[in-house]
Amino acid sequence: MSTGFFGDIKPVGYEGPESTNPLAYRFYNPDEIVLGKRMEDHLRFAVAYWHSFTWPGGDPFGGQTFERPWFGDTMEQAKRKADVAFEMFSLLGAPYFCFHDADVRPEADTFAESAARLDEIADYFAGKMSETGVRLLWGTANLFSNRRYMAGAATNPDPDVFAYAAATVKHCIDVTKRLNGENYVLWGGREGYETLLNTDMGRELDQMGRFLSLVVDYKHKIGFTGTILIEPKPQEPTKHQYDFDVATVYGFLKRYGLENEVKVNIEQGHAILAGHSFEHELALANALGIFGSIDMNRNDYQSGWDTDQFPNNVPEMALAYYQILAHGGFRTGGTNFDAKLRRQSLDPEDLLVAHIGGMDCCARGLKAAARMIEDKALSAPLEARYAGWNSAEAQAMLSGQRSLEDIAARVVKDGIEPQPKSGRQEYLENVVNRYV
Ligand code: GLC
Ligand code: MN
Repeated sequence: MSTGFFGDIKPVGYEGPESTNPLAYRFYNPDEIVLGKRMEDHLRFAVAYWHSFTWPGGDPFGGQTFERPWFGDTMEQAKRKADVAFEMFSLLGAPYFCFHDADVRPEADTFAESAARLDEIADYFAGKMSETGVRLLWGTANLFSNRRYMAGAATNPDPDVFAYAAATVKHCIDVTKRLNGENYVLWGGREGYETLLNTDMGRELDQMGRFLSLVVDYKHKIGFTGTILIEPKPQEPTKHQYDFDVATVYGFLKRYGLENEVKVNIEQGHAILAGHSFEHELALANALGIFGSIDMNRNDYQSGWDTDQFPNNVPEMALAYYQILAHGGFRTGGTNFDAKLRRQSLDPEDLLVAHIGGMDCCARGLKAAARMIEDKALSAPLEARYAGWNSAEAQAMLSGQRSLEDIAARVVKDGIEPQPKSGRQEYLENVVNRYV
């Protein structure tokens, strides 16, 4: 039964590139085969509950702009919100969603009561999931909004906060498992510091390492088969966030012996805030073997903060999906729209239009990336660039069969004088331009 929130809007269908219908897909065609796989199975789209259904439209200068019939703090309203959320997932044909505990149920006065409320909503979700076929890409706990977390969750100087956060994550993993979630995300929004004058960094990192180990142990104990993902971000809300970027997270995982247990959920906007491109973070995660999932969005390139806009830069997205496809695509991960409307976009239809645009841009990016892969447009020149390493002598250097003296002796004996070759960047950029 329709909630009526979206009026009499019909399920969004694929109409092809020529369509001018704002409520149709022009590029996202779930059943279309790309590189031998359905587009829907490549992209694995998820809607983020928090931005679309919980965020009120505030900014640092003003509060709520959106008026939604489910805003409030009763369980009845939480269920109305779920009704509309699942209606939207179905209208869009989005196969997945993601949520924090705090997005889906009002917090109560005690931990136990808050947990009971989450269980009640999880049961409600389970019913909606089996009715609609929508699945859970990942669950997570909000360990950053409540004032108890102002000095961190796992990294808090107060061990009671560590314990409270641990209990919260335990329960959220239980719920994620119950709903067959395919991943569990930890974003350390408050795991960082404002000033070293009140911060013992070494101690806080050890706390964070212990916390993550507890989570991994628990996952195995209960047989949760999803992937544990850390989501890097360099700052905001804290000045210095410990999960700065992929490289930093990898170092952290190595130090605590968790590099084979935990992967990363990489967000476009967070990559930009860290001074990287999205594809840099994706390529590095793949190189290090810790790529998991993505949060798709876009930051304003001038303002310098996390604007969480819906994505629309197809050439950039093509390069991002190129990095994903070139390494075999998503396994348990997917494309979560961690994106929110602009605060003046008040209408229910804006929610649909935003997701339709995001999904279409992703589809275009994916298709461009797939064609570059099929044509070996970038991989063939790349292979040629490193071809010298295929020689027996080069392989011997790489595999540790040659010492520094061996190599030095050969340089003299063979009279090696390296001849520089063009990197052909502009040629390659022009190649990419043929596909996007
Ligand atoms: C917060 C962050 C977002 C992250 C999410 C899940 O909402 O802003 O980037 O993906 O938490 O942990
Ligand atoms: Mn995110």
